[in-house]
Amino acid sequence: MDTFTQPGDILVGGIFLVYSGYNFPSVKFQEMPKPISCKGFHIRYYRDVLGLKFAVDEINNSPDLLPNITLGFILVESCMSELRASESVMSLLSGVENPVPQYNCHKTSNMVGIVGDMASALSLPIARILGVHHFPQISHGASSSALSNKVNFPSFLRTVSSNMFQNIALSQLINLFGWTWVGMLIVDNDVGEQGGRAIRAEIEKNGRCVAFSEKIHLSYSKKKILRVVEIIRQSSANVIILHSTEPHVMALFDALFDEGVIGKIFISSVSFTITPGLFSRKAWKVLNGTVGLMPKTRPMPGFESFLQSLHPASNSTYPFIKLFWETAFHCSWSGEGMQETGATSTNNQSLCTENVDLKMKIPELFEIYDLSYTYHAYLAGYAYAHALHALLMCQPADRTCANISSIQPWQVLYSLKKTPFRPPSGDTITFDGNGDVSASYDIVTIRIVNGEFQLVTVGTFNPDAKAGHVIDVNTSQILWNERFSKVPQSYCSDSCPPGYRKVARQGQPSCCFDCVLCSAGDITNITDAAECLRCPRDQWSNEERNQCIPKIVEFLSYQEPLGIMLVLIATGSSILALGILLLFIRFRETPVIKATNRELSYILLVSLILCFLCCLVFIGQPSTITCLLRQTFFSLIFSISLSSVLAKTIMVVLAFKTITLNSPLRKWLGPTIPRSIVGLCSVLQISICSAWFHRSPPFPTMNTEIANYKIILECNEGQKVFFYLSLGFLGFLAMISFLVAFLGRNLPGSFNEAKLITFSMLVFCSVWISFIPAYLSTSGKYTVAVQIFAILASSAGLLSCIFLPKCYIILLRPERNNRQFLGVNKDLRH
Ligand SMILES: *[C@@H]1O[C@H](CO)[C@@H](O)[C@H](O)[C@H]1NC(C)=O
Ligand SMILES: *[C@@H]1O[C@H](CO)[C@@H](O)[C@H](O)[C@H]1NC(C)=O
Ligand SMILES: *[C@@H]1O[C@H](CO)[C@@H](O)[C@H](O)[C@H]1NC(C)=O
Ligand SMILES: *[C@@H]1O[C@H](CO)[C@@H](O)[C@H](O)[C@H]1NC(C)=O
Repeated sequence: MDTFTQPGDILVGGIFLVYSGYNFPSVKFQEMPKPISCKGFHIRYYRDVLGLKFAVDEINNSPDLLPNITLGFILVESCMSELRASESVMSLLSGVENPVPQYNCHKTSNMVGIVGDMASALSLPIARILGVHHFPQISHGASSSALSNKVNFPSFLRTVSSNMFQNIALSQLINLFGWTWVGMLIVDNDVGEQGGRAIRAEIEKNGRCVAFSEKIHLSYSKKKILRVVEIIRQSSANVIILHSTEPHVMALFDALFDEGVIGKIFISSVSFTITPGLFSRKAWKVLNGTVGLMPKTRPMPGFESFLQSLHPASNSTYPFIKLFWETAFHCSWSGEGMQETGATSTNNQSLCTENVDLKMKIPELFEIYDLSYTYHAYLAGYAYAHALHALLMCQPADRTCANISSIQPWQVLYSLKKTPFRPPSGDTITFDGNGDVSASYDIVTIRIVNGEFQLVTVGTFNPDAKAGHVIDVNTSQILWNERFSKVPQSYCSDSCPPGYRKVARQGQPSCCFDCVLCSAGDITNITDAAECLRCPRDQWSNEERNQCIPKIVEFLSYQEPLGIMLVLIATGSSILALGILLLFIRFRETPVIKATNRELSYILLVSLILCFLCCLVFIGQPSTITCLLRQTFFSLIFSISLSSVLAKTIMVVLAFKTITLNSPLRKWLGPTIPRSIVGLCSVLQISICSAWFHRSPPFPTMNTEIANYKIILECNEGQKVFFYLSLGFLGFLAMISFLVAFLGRNLPGSFNEAKLITFSMLVFCSVWISFIPAYLSTSGKYTVAVQIFAILASSAGLLSCIFLPKCYIILLRPERNNRQFLGVNKDLRH
């Protein structure tokens, strides 16, 4: 194991990721298992080591911080392997390379704390072991929220924030761009599993869906990686969340390029460090347009000149400097290939020399445009320095004081938790109760333009900001990639236009749905509606179902053909009846008219005129007045006309009976009987109507039950029983008239009206009997039309049966219009 020690009065241990991977020794247990060998020295990771060294140098040179005490450090590196990380921490605690648990073999100075590791997966086993010893650990990059649990990890602190807010940040980014269907790539370890679950939960809480969630690890075989590539290719999700440390996805990105799966947008979580030096040019192309979260950093003044001073002189105190030199200048010290184990040595590898100019290469090699994690390692150095300073420089009266030779790690942990710290340029920072610091992220995007890698900060995420400003992204600064020139779309189903609602597909996530047209009477005026809304009572949906439109108002109007026709018939008939009335008045002294009961004929004719005219009340928009008038007018006039018919019949029969029998009934032949019959019937009908109006008068209503797309304006008859009572009374009168007339039908005399009345009553009754089923089976304005028709037909029946024959005689056969022809007396004498 490579270790590096910089001596000092007090030591801080460091477990750093320097290599990006390791070889997998096949362990058969037939011989002594070999240790893991690291590969892929990565300068960006190495920079974190230098960050700690830079801090320690600054602290040792500072007159205020730990005066007269030098801070030293011991470094080991974990090369992306949990096993290696556990081994490293035990070795650091023991102070010897082959660890002896529970023994402390640090010879000259105490080691009081550990900095590291960067990856959460590697920090977890370290934190477990250090927790047993209450040995302080400050990670400079582990963001897994599991590490906030102080029951499991009592001695773990970190200078980056927990990823608790990262889930919210990712989910808000997805909301911001309107993606509903995203894939997820998560690292195949505890940290990935736990973090992936939290991210997924947050995404789904916002109503978005995860199209796939695939695991990835640097130990995966080519076959396993190709399977993941295939899943990414086949998914309709254009956006993929990347929750993994970068070494695990290197091989996948190359495979994506080789298989031509380019143009997906990656959204990287904080655990993905954007370090272009680690990736091939092929992977760069795949990463083009990636949007990611990065912990906020601040500048480290002097760091760049510190980097420029790096030199592999034999007396230098730079850790791992020879490895760095080999990687930076593609050379080798020994001539037998790089020291770096596992690297393929090529014959044309030049020998390393010390006399090369590093200066120009620094920005590119160290990616100094983004100091994340290096800055956090630097902060960790300062956290220890301030804690130790507080512990060692305190007044002896204070119980928390410690002596440099007997300082205990738990004392340092106590001091770390309560001592605020700050680097020379920067704000004061304090660990919170969970050992975390407050969260805020930069939102960055990757641009590969003209073969150059650019990292552009496009926004920030700050959970402490006011609502509405928590996430702040300048979208126009994101270039996406060559496939998407504007914000890409990522959805499972096209959104439903207004008028449609979403219907979930069975067995698929909620973002996959079908669109179904709203049913009649329902609308939606928004896209992607989950439910249709019912239109108000007086409105109905249009054809497109995106608007409520007023319902058609229906009533029998004067404008429509049916109404006009009925008006014409009614007025024509009433004019005809009027004509007959005038004719009767004109020829009132002729025998034909005298033979009929003149007074009753006039009453009947007037009431028939009114019958025809009362149809007009039924046409037009119903109002309170017309509704009241309709049935009153109708039933009153009809009862007058029917009662006068009845009176007529009775008079005819009475007349014949009194003549034949010469009976005392003769005195009844005066006008008393007909008048009282008509009066009585009218009074009866009026009382029915009064009771009706008293209990529940007819009123205009808007009927929406019959047809839901229209409103029928109609008169509600109130209690139907009264309506049928008044109709029934009319029917009763008609039946009586019919029966009496039927009995008198064979009485002699050419002017015997009984036959005609029988016939007219027959017509009348059949009209009204057929009216009832027609009335019940029609709706809306046709009900009214049916009633008008029944009125017209029955009135016309009465008019034509009773009066037309007489008109015929008066007008066309005047010779018959005399007493001889009347022949009543003659017949009677016979
Ligand atoms: C540091 O050492 C110097 C010289 O040995 C001494 O004068 C000074 O008081 C010491 N300072 C502290 C804070 O111990
Ligand atoms: C967003 O970025 C564009 C292009 O860089 C710039 O012109 C614009 O001013 C920025 N908008 C805001 C609000 O910062
Ligand atoms: C990356 O995307 C930008 C913006 O669309 C494009 O101009 C550039 O050519 C892309 N780079 C590569 C290497 O495809
Ligand atoms: C949708 O309809 C509701 C209720 O009818 C209305 O308040 C809202 O303004 C409408 N929205 C749009 C976008 O038309």
